[in-house]
Order: sequence, then C-alpha cells, then structure tokens
Amino acid sequence: MGFRLRLDLFLVAIVFLSSPVLSDLVLSKVDRRVDLTSQVVRISSTLKVENEGHDLVSELLLAIPDHQAKHLAYLVAVPIEGKGKAKSAGSSFPVQIVHPEEIPPGLTFYSVSLPKGLDKGGSLTLDVLTVFTHMLQPFPEKISQADFQLLVFQDTAYFLSPYVVKTQTLSVKLPSNARVESYTKLANTKGLDSEIRYGPFENLPPFSYTPIVIHYENNHPFAVAQELVREVEISHWGNVQVIEHYNLVHAGAESQGEFSRLDYQARPHVRGASAFRHLVAKLPPRAHSVYYRDEIGNISTSHLWGDSKKTELVFEPRYPMFGGWRTSFTIGYGLPLKDFLFETEGKRFLNFSFGSPIGELVIDKLIVKVVLPEGSRDISVSVPFPVKQSEEITFSHLDIVGRPVIVLEKTNVVQEHNQYFQVYYRFSSLSMLREPFLLISGFFFLFVACIVYMHADLSISKSSTSYLAKLQWEEVQVAVQQIQNVINRCLSIHDKLEASLHDLSRTGDVQACKATRKSADSLLKELSKELKPSLSFLQSSPQAAQILPKVEELIAKEKELQEKLMLKHSTIVDSSEKKSGGREIENRVAPLQQKVSALRQEVEDLLDVIDEI
Ligand SMILES: *[C@@H]1O[C@H](CO)[C@@H](O)[C@H](O)[C@H]1NC(C)=O
Ligand SMILES: *[C@@H]1O[C@H](CO)[C@@H](O)[C@H](O)[C@H]1NC(C)=O
Repeated sequence: MGFRLRLDLFLVAIVFLSSPVLSDLVLSKVDRRVDLTSQVVRISSTLKVENEGHDLVSELLLAIPDHQAKHLAYLVAVPIEGKGKAKSAGSSFPVQIVHPEEIPPGLTFYSVSLPKGLDKGGSLTLDVLTVFTHMLQPFPEKISQADFQLLVFQDTAYFLSPYVVKTQTLSVKLPSNARVESYTKLANTKGLDSEIRYGPFENLPPFSYTPIVIHYENNHPFAVAQELVREVEISHWGNVQVIEHYNLVHAGAESQGEFSRLDYQARPHVRGASAFRHLVAKLPPRAHSVYYRDEIGNISTSHLWGDSKKTELVFEPRYPMFGGWRTSFTIGYGLPLKDFLFETEGKRFLNFSFGSPIGELVIDKLIVKVVLPEGSRDISVSVPFPVKQSEEITFSHLDIVGRPVIVLEKTNVVQEHNQYFQVYYRFSSLSMLREPFLLISGFFFLFVACIVYMHADLSISKSSTSYLAKLQWEEVQVAVQQIQNVINRCLSIHDKLEASLHDLSRTGDVQACKATRKSADSLLKELSKELKPSLSFLQSSPQAAQILPKVEELIAKEKELQEKLMLKHSTIVDSSEKKSGGREIENRVAPLQQKVSALRQEVEDLLDVIDEI
C-alpha cells in the first residue's frame, strides 16, 4: 500500500489511558456519521454526556489527532433539546483550543464550554460538526484521463475521547454508486449500498482507538481556490459592486498522460470522470450586470437565470479541468444597496455573506475587502468566526481623502463559513453630497469659463477640434507604420526564399529548400494575421480615408507577390527533383520571374508613396 497508516500517534495516546483528571464525565452514547461524498470530510457526532462525579463540570474536551487537526476548517458544537432537534447555529457552545496538563502528544484538544454547567448526575446531548479539507488522499496519486479517481480515508472506528464511552456507533457515507476498492472489516461491520457501518461498540476506556481505512471511488469535482479575493464596494447611490478574483486548481488525483479533447467530448463521463467542465455560482437575488472574464477577455460560455430567491450563474472555464490543472478568472456583479445596507442606532451596517457563491468550493486563502464610502467613520466589524483583520485606503475618481477598506483574511474556508458578517460605520449624509457638489461646481466653473472664452476668442473651439484631429492622425500614422513594418518583414522572407533557390542550384539539396519554403509559408501566414488589427482600425477611421486605398493596394500586391513567388519556388524545386534540364526549367520559370520582379517593384514603390503621405 502506498499510503502510510498513522499508527505511531495512537500508540503514544494509549499510554495515557484513563487520565484521572478528566474522568468525571462519561459519554453514555456516541453516534458518529462521516460524510465522504464530496471533497471535504464532514464528521458529525451526537454525544450524550453524563456527569458521574460530584462537582459541577463546565467544560467538555474533544480530542482530534494533530494530523487531522491541521486540516480542520470548521468546528461547531450545538446543544440538542428534546427529541433530537438541534438548535440553530446561533446558540452553539463556545469552543477554544486548550492545552490540558499532561497532554498526550499528537492530539489537539478543543474545550466546549457548557454555560449552564453539568451537575452531579446531570446529562446533556450535543451535536459536534467538524469539517476537514485536503484530508482525502487520492490513491493512486496520478491517473490517466480514462481512470476513475480513488481516494483513501483513514480514521479510527472508535470515537477518540478522553472519557469512557459506554456505547457507540460509526457510519460512513460514500458517494452513491461508488465502487469501494477495500475497507477495514472489524467484528461488527456492515457494508451497505454506499454506506459502511461499524459498531455498536460497548464500554471502551478513554483514548481507545482502532484504525480503519476506506479506499473508494469519488469523482466529485475537487475545485480548490488557492486564493480568492472578494471586493465588495458600497456606493450610497444605490449599488453594492462585487468583484471576485479566483485562482482555481483541480486538487484531486493528478491527471497524467496525453489529454484527448475528442475522447472527452465524445464520452465525458468515461474519459474524464473526475474532471469538471462548469461551475455554478449562486448569487443573491436581483444581481445585475453580471460578467465573467479571465486575462484574455470576456468568456461567453456562461448562463444566467434567476427568480425572486436567487440568481444562478453557470459558467465554463476555457477548458475542462482535470486533476492538477489550474485556471484563474474574475466574476463581477452589482446588487441593490437596500438589500444589504441597514441602519441601527445611528450607524449604518453592511450585512453580507462571507464565503464564495460557488458551491462546495474549498478556499485555501480568502481575502474579503469591503470598500466603504469616503468619509465613513467609527468602523467596526463583526464576523462569527476568527479572521485576520486590517484596514487600507483606496482612491477612486473625485476622492479627496480616500475610501476606507476593511480587509478580512481567513485560510481554509468551506461552505460552512458562508455566514453573514457585518461592517458598521457612521456616515454623514452631507459627505455624500460632496462628490456631486464637486461635480456641479466643477461644471459650473467650466460653463462660466466656456462663456468667457467663447466671447473672448471663438478660435479656441476650432483649435481644440484640430488638436483632436491631430491626435487621431497620429494614431492613423502608427497603424500605417505597423503595416509597413509587416510588409517589410514579408519582403525579407521573400529574399530568404530567393536565396534558398540559389543554394539549391549550388548544392542540389532539395529537402533543405523545401524546409525553407515550409517555414516561410507559416511565417507569412502569421504576418498576414498581424496585419488585420491595424487594417481594420484604418478602415474604421475617417482620418485614414485618404491613405487607405494605397494601403489596401499595398497589401493586395504583396499577397499576389507571395503567391507568384511560392509558385516559382515550387516549380523550380519540382523540376529539379525530376532532374529536368536547365533550359527547360528556365523556359517555365521565365514568365513567372517577370511577374515577380514587376510586383516587387510595385510593392516597393507603394511603400515609398505611403511614406510620403
Ligand atoms: C465584457 O462584458 C461586460 C459586461 O457584459 C461588458 O460591459 C464589457 O464591455 C465586455 N468587455 C469586452 C472586452 O467585451
Ligand atoms: C443578515 O442577513 C441575514 C439574511 O438575510 C439575516 O438572517 C441576518 O439576521 C442578518 N443579520 C443582521 C445582523 O441583520
């Protein structure tokens, strides 16, 4: 087996069996459910806790092996009241990392505070949800396009706990229809359709452990944003503008060998089962001006629809994403301000969701920037989980002192972090009028100035249009120059072709001559593509009306020259391959040669003519 079992750690943990300090509490029942259907591992455990000691207990310790704790993205403990109904996350217990004395090495402890405490003989039921990222190991690590993705999950069949556990069960949920390569079978293990059940296990001492390994198929898209920057800009003129920059990788089993797009398109589920072709972003309702682009430009393969509850953007990266492949892109959208900005006690606050609108995305590093209007004061932030917070200033047009930017940073972000956070600030409506005031007074002065100038000297408007015309003329000249450059490069390729014919007559090396023609041909094709943007600029520019016919003639003549030259070249090469006599070749080539020389002269003349305009 290529993956390593983490046995080392548990051997150490077992030394600490039944630490007396922690033994007042007993877990009378533990039901643990592991969800392996996506790229993250979600473990939710229902714990029934009893106090068998004499004193009030106000904290419960949870133990997670270090090698899992480093992948822990989210942990929440919620009390369950009555018949198994969890309360909302708002009423969750506070949790913090602690370092108990004589702590077994290799374990991280989390302390759940029980605000009411647990009396002698008292009991309590709670749900603990943990979410881990990058914990499923692809095995094999590299697969080809046709392979399915197999993953390894390792854990313990017993709930790792510093307390005695009286009775417990474990169930592991797998993707539906997933093939299971292998799984650890203990005394009471049941393998069902897309589920494996362990237990019940009775009366296990603290830190009991037995390893299990599950090796199974999971073709879930492993979309990981190595970095996501979300910019949320508030404009008191009625809009919240959101721009999200993604740096995405498929973090599943690496794709190796050649990729065939044809195979993939014909049978995407067989030839690329673990690849993903599109992503779905669930944007808030009433999102408008939605766009999706990358460094090349707008990407049109996206589809937007919405109702009163949400707006859904389905979009495709430029290529299907296989294991190890990367892409970066930007999504932008506008939202109505009144849906997100509220007021309380004289302060305004933005209430906005923290994570990405793309479902089941793992974000290694998330940066959320909230740009407040210029003149905002008394800024405070409330986020329901710990984040790194800092402040910046940004300037946009008409800003004088700049806009305050709140920067929130968090690593290892999952779906569960898609919670609302608030940014509170004070803002005087007068400062909102500053920009229009600047604009209005600016226009007013401009207006006055115009009147004064118009009366003083009418020629100024003429000279300003002529100035504009001069600018436009310069642009035309630049475009013409580019075209001349390209044509000159074409001419030097023509010279190379001619030179290769000379070499042929000297050395008789037909292959070398053919190779030169081939490379010349592809270079000329490239160059003709290079002509297009400048030419279409000239065609659309009224200033170029005079020069355009000459330029078009130049391009046409050069093209004709190219064709004749190629014909001449291939005629000579063919004849010398057939070992035709020198006289015969000359007879055939002579008319072509005349044409080529004449065209060359015309092209050079046109270049001169254009130079003089
Ligand atoms: C890209 O799309 C946006 C929104 O539809 C549009 O405003 C912008 O002009 C487009 N840009 C290009 C280069 O096509
Ligand atoms: C933020 O918005 C959400 C969803 O509309 C709402 O449930 C929540 O109560 C709001 N939070 C605050 C502090 O207003």
